[in-house]
Amino acid sequence: MTNLRLAKQLSDLAEPLDEYADPVQEAVNAVPQPVRDVLDGVWLGNPLHPALTDIPLGAWTAALALDLVGSPAADEALAVGILGAVPTALTGLNDWGHLKDDARRIGTMHALLNSMALALNVASYVARRDGHRGLGRVLSGVAYAGTAFSAHLGGHLSFGLGVRVNRTAFESPRDRYAPVCDEKEIDDGELVGVELDGEAVVVSRSEKSGEVCAIAATCSHMGGPLADGKRDGDVVVCPWHGSRFDLCSGEVRGGPAVYPQPRYETRVRAGKVEIRIAKDSTA
Ligand code: FES
Repeated sequence: MTNLRLAKQLSDLAEPLDEYADPVQEAVNAVPQPVRDVLDGVWLGNPLHPALTDIPLGAWTAALALDLVGSPAADEALAVGILGAVPTALTGLNDWGHLKDDARRIGTMHALLNSMALALNVASYVARRDGHRGLGRVLSGVAYAGTAFSAHLGGHLSFGLGVRVNRTAFESPRDRYAPVCDEKEIDDGELVGVELDGEAVVVSRSEKSGEVCAIAATCSHMGGPLADGKRDGDVVVCPWHGSRFDLCSGEVRGGPAVYPQPRYETRVRAGKVEIRIAKDSTA
């Protein structure tokens, strides 16, 4: 069975859970933005959840290997994984808050599997401490199989469905300037959406410096159209999940996006705004 068919079947399996997922997602999205920025990894400049998953996965892999050679150090590795799973789950829940349709359902299955694996690992740890080492090894072995499959689902979410992938990663440099709009179109503080070589760009005039600014208009978070966003001074607010970007530098001013928007160099010739992508702003 191909990955895509398996993912579709899992998504269908999770569909009856939509009615429970809706209020949970609402509660997640009501968490104050500064907390969510921490969980998103805005401070890190990369999504936090994938980085944290290495802790429980690595520790539980070590526990499995230590169990195979009969080392009691497996218990400590198991405990490290359990402790690491808590912040990992919180960041995952935060990411899931932005998902919809198939991605949300696969994310739901991913979370349920991980929760079951965590519960089994806790039960395994307790069994080991009570002297039931054999039972503990069976419980953590089953948990490991669930975690491995769930990690595969997480990979599908990222690489198959593009969750938390930088949506502007493939913009390429262009040496020459190209005219994209009349200068007067941006004079009333308008955000003007234009296209350059098939890439959406938003052009504006800075309220602070008066310079003409241009950044990629496809939100790096999940592709929201920034040209339709709200302007707040020299910041644009994405209409989909509220990420905030500096209209001139493209820097992230608020999550959930963690990657900046590519920036364009601008000049005005004969009343026309001309732009080209800034070389320092492409991947
Ligand atoms: S698409 Fe999510 S904040 Fe822009």
